[in-house]
Amino acid sequence: MTTVEFEQPDGSVTTVEAADGESIMRTALSNLVPGIVADCGGELSCATCHVIVSDAWVGIAGPPSGFEDEMLDATSEEREPGSRLSCQVVVSPVLDGVRVRVPASQW
Ligand code: FES
Repeated sequence: MTTVEFEQPDGSVTTVEAADGESIMRTALSNLVPGIVADCGGELSCATCHVIVSDAWVGIAGPPSGFEDEMLDATSEEREPGSRLSCQVVVSPVLDGVRVRVPASQW
């Protein structure tokens, strides 16, 4: 089992167990982590599942795909170097302990 840390805008951190092969977005929703809207359900068409991967994990999580990269230009909160759409980040053991920051707004 892999753990994922979600950091909220107020600095609080929720650590959850994630199923390998599941997206970080699904992990957030199934654990009632606030701030991940995921309006399109993971179809890469809403950009309301934006997270910012912490610096130490950016290289391990990898870069966004071409279309995801374009979608990140449409996020409510301005994108940052670690920005990803969490529906496109698949949990695996190499991400054990990954921390992502949830933006203050997804709309
Ligand atoms: S859930 Fe819509 S783009 Fe990720």
